Amino acid sequence: MGNDFLNKISSDITPSIIVTDPEEMAPFLTDWRGNFTGTAKAILMPTDTNMVSKIMQIAHEQNQVVVPQGGNTGLVGGGIPDSSGKSIILSLQKMNHIIDFSSDNRTITVEAGCILQNIHELVEAENLYFPLSLAAKGSCTIGGNLATNAGGINVLRYGTMREQCLGIEVVLADGTIINQLSSLRKDNTGYDLKNLFIGSEGTLGIITSACLKLVSLPTARATAIAVIDKFEHALSLLDMLQHLTGDQVESFEIMPKVLLDIVYKQFPDINPPIQLNDGFIVLIEVSSSKADDLENDITGKSALQNVMESFLENALNHALISDAVVANNEAQRLIFWSIRENAPQATKQESWPVNTDISVRRDKLAEFYQHASDAIRKISPDCRICGYGHVGDGNLHFNVVEASAGDPDWSKKRTELLSAIYSSLSFFSGSISAEHGIGQLKTQQLIETKDPNYYRIMTMIKNNFDPKNLLNPHRIIK
Ligand code: FAD
Ligand code: LAC
Ligand code: ZN
Repeated sequence: MGNDFLNKISSDITPSIIVTDPEEMAPFLTDWRGNFTGTAKAILMPTDTNMVSKIMQIAHEQNQVVVPQGGNTGLVGGGIPDSSGKSIILSLQKMNHIIDFSSDNRTITVEAGCILQNIHELVEAENLYFPLSLAAKGSCTIGGNLATNAGGINVLRYGTMREQCLGIEVVLADGTIINQLSSLRKDNTGYDLKNLFIGSEGTLGIITSACLKLVSLPTARATAIAVIDKFEHALSLLDMLQHLTGDQVESFEIMPKVLLDIVYKQFPDINPPIQLNDGFIVLIEVSSSKADDLENDITGKSALQNVMESFLENALNHALISDAVVANNEAQRLIFWSIRENAPQATKQESWPVNTDISVRRDKLAEFYQHASDAIRKISPDCRICGYGHVGDGNLHFNVVEASAGDPDWSKKRTELLSAIYSSLSFFSGSISAEHGIGQLKTQQLIETKDPNYYRIMTMIKNNFDPKNLLNPHRIIK
């Protein structure tokens, strides 16, 4: 095949979209955690959908493997090519234009390479809100968010990426463009192909643009950190607060003390807002766009802040929490969030952790935590169990960090620890991937855990959309 493919791209499209300089290519070839590294012939950076289509037509003719990539913040190696050097990466980064914005229809239609945070800023300036949010918001793209069906810190209230999307445009493996860029809220005209592409991690098609749903911008927020002794108290608190506020809880995130210690060690500029000897904190955020909730009392506190304070007081009286602090202003709120959002970076700097992304029924999460912790302690009594995250969704990054004194057998134990977590998970009928996807990291675990008939149908779908197996081969389907 040689470089026929690149020559044809060069002659039929333009050489200006081809990147082959090793230095420029390097950041596209390794994932954020440094767990996957690959090589590629080139990176292609198309600037519109027709170009993507033309690239795929040529790739189809020449049996060229294509790995789509957005912001390269994925955590399962889905956007990193293999080490053969035969793939090309198709980066959507240059497709970052806004196609349409309508405050009346409450929608925004964007190209897939738009950065999530840029969409936040743009719609907030118009008094609207695109809720999906995660720590990688400054570099992940809408295309990547859709391809992984990203979750993040407010799924509890607004749902995953799937629930934020009204329509998409996709280019298939043979270059066919599927235009379903609808901005309709109701449309029952046959099979829902959109939802097949969302979460397909670049294995069925390349998402080139999407229409996203917007909601009212929350104007009042109350953000607090509460200290709890027992994991199960988190779930009781959440249930109480959801009832009390009529489902205004936007985020409910848990972090154990051991993880906080790691964050404070790795980010010494953070001033701990609350002290604890053991147990966990929960980071709670309630938000509202109702004018009443923003109204200040004579002390200058908003109605929503008062709701949060009396809730915490009540929780304290019932011994569900042992201490709490409410953010007094936006700067303090951002400090609370920085503690949570720096957790993945802090554990990465601290050691080579065992990372997971599990979910179980919310009402079984505390039991799972105990069950998995007991199994872990049998293998590594001194390791640091850092199960944290989106407790309100039943989703934890149940991660394990090497003992602070170090452990010479750590690399060996990592595999054993992972199996122990997964066997606990299977006992609770949980999922091996709540929000990050399968990528190349979990293809074997997918086979082991998915109903065989379901897996067989997924394979048929992949073969049907991409019979030559050119789009992200060996991702999701092994
Ligand atoms: P990439 O990493 O570039 O790609 C991810 C996958 O999608 C790959 O399989 C790729 O081939 C495919 N892909 C990318 N773009 C397209 C496209 N246009 N068409 C088709 N396929 C495509 N995820 C969560 O769900 N919740 C979190 O809370 C969360 N927190 C994170 C925190 C940190 C610090 C980091 C580094 C990551 C976090 N992630 C989280 C994971 C990651 O940010 C998300 O998976 C994100 O959606 C990936 O977007 P991306 O543009 O970086 O995609
Ligand atoms: C988080 C990422 C790892 O929630 O999903 O921190
Ligand atoms: Zn997460």
